[in-house]
Amino acid sequence: MASLFALLAVLGSASASAVPSSSTLNTLLVSSTAPSSQLAQCLKSSYYGTYGGQASTQEHIYLPSERCLLGESALDGLSGGSLIPMNFDTSDEAGRIVWVGQAGVDPESLPSDSSGDVWSIISSTSREFALLSSPGSNQQVLSSKKSQVSSEPIRLLHQSPTSLLLHVPRSYLPMIDTFLPSHLVPVALPSKPLPALANGWEPVPSQFARHLANVTKYLRFSPEIDKVVSEGIELNQIRRDVRWLTGEAPSGIVSRHSFTPGAVKAAHWIKDKVEATGANCTLHTFIEGFSPNVICHYPSSLNSTEHVILSAHYDSRGSFGSTRAPGGDDDGSGTGHLLGVAHAIGTQGVKFKKQVVLAFFAGEEQGLLGSHAYAEHLHEKNTTILLQVQADMLAYHAPGEPLQIGLPESIHLPEASHLIGNLSQIYSPELVVGKTAACCSDHQSFISYGFPATQVFERNGWIADPYYHNSGDLSQRDNYDFEQVVSIAKVTLAGLLTIAGYDLEEGV
Ligand SMILES: *[C@@H]1O[C@H](CO)[C@@H](O)[C@H](O)[C@H]1NC(C)=O
Ligand SMILES: *[C@@H]1O[C@H](CO)[C@@H](O)[C@H](O)[C@H]1NC(C)=O
Ligand SMILES: *[C@@H]1O[C@H](CO)[C@@H](O)[C@H](O)[C@H]1NC(C)=O
Ligand SMILES: *[C@@H]1O[C@H](CO)[C@@H](O)[C@H](O)[C@H]1NC(C)=O
Ligand SMILES: *[C@@H]1O[C@H](CO)[C@@H](O)[C@H](O)[C@H]1NC(C)=O
Ligand SMILES: [Zn+2]
Repeated sequence: MASLFALLAVLGSASASAVPSSSTLNTLLVSSTAPSSQLAQCLKSSYYGTYGGQASTQEHIYLPSERCLLGESALDGLSGGSLIPMNFDTSDEAGRIVWVGQAGVDPESLPSDSSGDVWSIISSTSREFALLSSPGSNQQVLSSKKSQVSSEPIRLLHQSPTSLLLHVPRSYLPMIDTFLPSHLVPVALPSKPLPALANGWEPVPSQFARHLANVTKYLRFSPEIDKVVSEGIELNQIRRDVRWLTGEAPSGIVSRHSFTPGAVKAAHWIKDKVEATGANCTLHTFIEGFSPNVICHYPSSLNSTEHVILSAHYDSRGSFGSTRAPGGDDDGSGTGHLLGVAHAIGTQGVKFKKQVVLAFFAGEEQGLLGSHAYAEHLHEKNTTILLQVQADMLAYHAPGEPLQIGLPESIHLPEASHLIGNLSQIYSPELVVGKTAACCSDHQSFISYGFPATQVFERNGWIADPYYHNSGDLSQRDNYDFEQVVSIAKVTLAGLLTIAGYDLEEGV
């Protein structure tokens, strides 16, 4: 805390002499203290999220006003942290603040030099990229129409043993993933503070947790649900769809990186496929130039305003310097699983009592950008969400391991994970239920806005896929297991049926 106060003193004197200009002085606060009712109101209302998949190294980020920081007891209740002054243009037009941290790959499987200075890799790579794509050069790594790279640098704001905080100029935002070693992932901070909830501070309002806990408590095997998931989810169809998305089947797709024509092609194809099952899909552009989210909606048969959301991200990330990004596991498997769920809804004649959304996000690999925009939109519309589940990487398990389903160790609503774990034991008893530190997928955006959310993952423990964030991430390879994708799809579909309620239409 001593350094915190020393910095405060510096800030205080700087602000006394500085005349506020267009480049206002902002200060980031990175702390190990989570928001709670104990914190000063002005800190709680400047909360920008919690980052990191391992509970022990999580970071909580605040962007308090100068006035807040200079107040009497602004920092009471914090057990420690760092203050980072930002005396440059931090507006949305200029760029975004991006947290970069561990994806959850087994540290022992990383080459020994990978703990080297990641910042020096990023800064030198981004300079090199700026050179490559300077005007007159036709050597562009990505096929973006407008990838003029500004002279603004990527800035390092803060570094901890497990993470970096960067300011990424807008022109670099579409390609920030391409600068990172495969075991690191970005999460963009929101451009506005996250909502401070009533009753002190609770990440997810308790009535949603209570509802899910009660559903879990009374959960019983339903022969009808078992029939719908067993007959509805089809391995061959999921395999065909995944291979179309990866380009292993002749689709012409080379990459689904958010700035490629392949991603746009995939978005339109997904829309058509899901609409054929009775949904309405919209292409939702969240940032100019990124391929859109595909948001597919099944209406409520009872005019309910409550929603249940299942999601995956269809964008992908390849190896450094390669234009190929098939994303067969990450997240072709989650996307294929979602198409399998849609197919089952269609063939089994499912009519949901509540509103159901199947969401296919883009911009995940650049920092959960698509899902964040969608969750923010749902928050602004006061949407009631009973459960949100993200499926990201479902197919790979290490040689000799059983079929499994991994639930998040942190950044989830525990009651949502308990429900999924119990549904798994009932409808896919072949899966071993466990926990994973795999970090930073789209359900995090929903947790940020106080929605009851969790994730399903392919493995208990670390990420083990050797082709993670690699251009070799195809479905035709050892230990890519469509049986596991099918088993997990049965669980998530059982979750939709259980929470949304349903009728089955005859004669389909
Ligand atoms: C809990 O679930 C049971 C069974 O669905 C239901 O009868 C009961 O009303 C629920 N209780 C609460 C408090 O929601
Ligand atoms: C889809 O939206 C159109 C136009 O709003 C509407 O006419 C149609 O009924 C909707 N279909 C479904 C399945 O919700
Ligand atoms: C749903 O709303 C429509 C239009 O407001 C109405 O015609 C219909 O009867 C309602 N259905 C139910 C089940 O309440
Ligand atoms: C959402 O709820 C808040 C607080 O209850 C209210 O002030 C706001 O007007 C609502 N917004 C919409 C779009 O209904
Ligand atoms: C089932 O739910 C209970 C809470 O009701 C939880 O303690 C348990 O861990 C869950 N089981 C699994 C396999 O997730
Ligand atoms: Zn992913």
